[in-house]
Amino acid sequence: MSQPSSKPISAFVFDAYGTLFDVHAAVRRYAGDLGPDAQRLSSVWRDKQLEYSWTRALMDRYLDFWTLTEQALDTAMAIVGKSDADLRKRLLDAYWKLDCYPEVPTVLKRLKDDGHRLAILSNGSPAMLESAARAAGIDDLLDEVFSTDLLKTYKTRQDVYEIVTNHFRVYPEAVSFQSSNRWDIAGATAFGFRTVWVNRVGTADEYADLPPAAVLSDLNGLLALS
Ligand code: LAC
Repeated sequence: MSQPSSKPISAFVFDAYGTLFDVHAAVRRYAGDLGPDAQRLSSVWRDKQLEYSWTRALMDRYLDFWTLTEQALDTAMAIVGKSDADLRKRLLDAYWKLDCYPEVPTVLKRLKDDGHRLAILSNGSPAMLESAARAAGIDDLLDEVFSTDLLKTYKTRQDVYEIVTNHFRVYPEAVSFQSSNRWDIAGATAFGFRTVWVNRVGTADEYADLPPAAVLSDLNGLLALS
């Protein structure tokens, strides 16, 4: 499903992890050291990182996203029965320079050349996001990198999406928000953004009452919508 946008878009805003940066790239880099547990470790690591962000936001007991990423890896390593301080360090170091998905630099450049404003809105701490964007070579294409750390909370709290509209001084419907996380799309749709779900792996749809305006299999399709 994809629909052309009916109103002009004044900014394209991207979720970071899973949307621009491949969160499984860190574990893939050391898959040889992890053996058959690699995929499970990566998916538990990501699931726990997200779970901690939601519980922390609900409890109003903020810890920054880097701390949650470390805690989530410790839990994931315990669950798969790995105890290896050197591997832990290498996996965490890799998170600062994750690969971006192959189409990301070209798509961002085309949107930028077409005169659009580009930004990230992410749970990631500012230092993590700055490092990942620089490592992926896309830092120069981004007008802004917004972190929910500004409000010491996490998506899908509605006020974090407002960071974008307050900064750019635009209405929510003038923002095209891209995320591969269906729960993040639900939050952004509830806020009023025009949302694009990047469903890279063909996951079943959820949150039927909060649908995206468009669904793409990767970010290339954005060029046809813009
Ligand atoms: C982010 C996580 C949720 O970048 O993917 O905000």
